[in-house]
Amino acid sequence: MKKNIAETPKTKSLPHHLAVIMDGNGRWAQKRGLSRLKGHRAGVKNIRPLIKYLHNKGVKYVTLYAFSTENWHRPEGEVSGLFHILEEIIGEESRELNEKGVRIHHIGSLEGLSSKLKKSINAALKLTEKNTFMHLAIALNYGGRTEILDAVRKIIADGLKPNKVDEASFRKYLYASDFPDVDLVIRTGGEMRISNLMIWQTAYSEYYFTPVLWPDFDEKELEKALIAFSQRQRRFGGLKSK
Ligand code: IPE
Ligand code: IPE
Ligand code: MG
Repeated sequence: MKKNIAETPKTKSLPHHLAVIMDGNGRWAQKRGLSRLKGHRAGVKNIRPLIKYLHNKGVKYVTLYAFSTENWHRPEGEVSGLFHILEEIIGEESRELNEKGVRIHHIGSLEGLSSKLKKSINAALKLTEKNTFMHLAIALNYGGRTEILDAVRKIIADGLKPNKVDEASFRKYLYASDFPDVDLVIRTGGEMRISNLMIWQTAYSEYYFTPVLWPDFDEKELEKALIAFSQRQRRFGGLKSK
């Protein structure tokens, strides 16, 4: 009998919070003589099976980096095309995610997004707000530095005294403040950088970089990343692995 993915012993210690930098859509398309938007379409289509896999495994928190504050530097046609693709996918997938007990979160700013995309994000947040089985954050128009600055502004506006600002109180001002620190960051597409993703929450993350381009990153590749993670020794400055 085929073994259920969730029971695979190789990936016993799973990340509680997994963040994914889904990079390489453009190069994937270029290699095939296709437009960059075709690459984004293929990339976005790739999300579904991977979320299903992580859901089966019981990974509780997942963050997907979909659009950074720096991605505004791209040509307008690519940005609007990508927003259109994202708006469609969020609309199409949220019902099924809701049935599976997934709560969708958005991190970043809604400002500057097309009104249709804002609408589809807000509808997905509302539809899934009571779910607790799995939390999925879409980092869209997101920047780690902006997140920290936004937190500082809120802290000042709340009139917190300097001696009340510590790591625990600070993190409550971050966008998805109920999310734990990131355990594992996966970046596809070969670059070895974090491109402004969750700089506070990744201070002690494990990193997994792969040259595989995002649209080609399938369940097998994901499993490889999870196995690599389960073999890491995390000491957090101490001497024993935790
Ligand atoms: C990732 O793919 C998607 C976004 C950043 C929106 P890219 O579009 O960055 O693909 P490459 O890096 O150009 O191949
Ligand atoms: C990072 O990819 C952002 C997302 C995947 C959304 P980029 O392609 O924008 O990153 P850089 O420009 O290579 O750092
Ligand atoms: Mg890129």
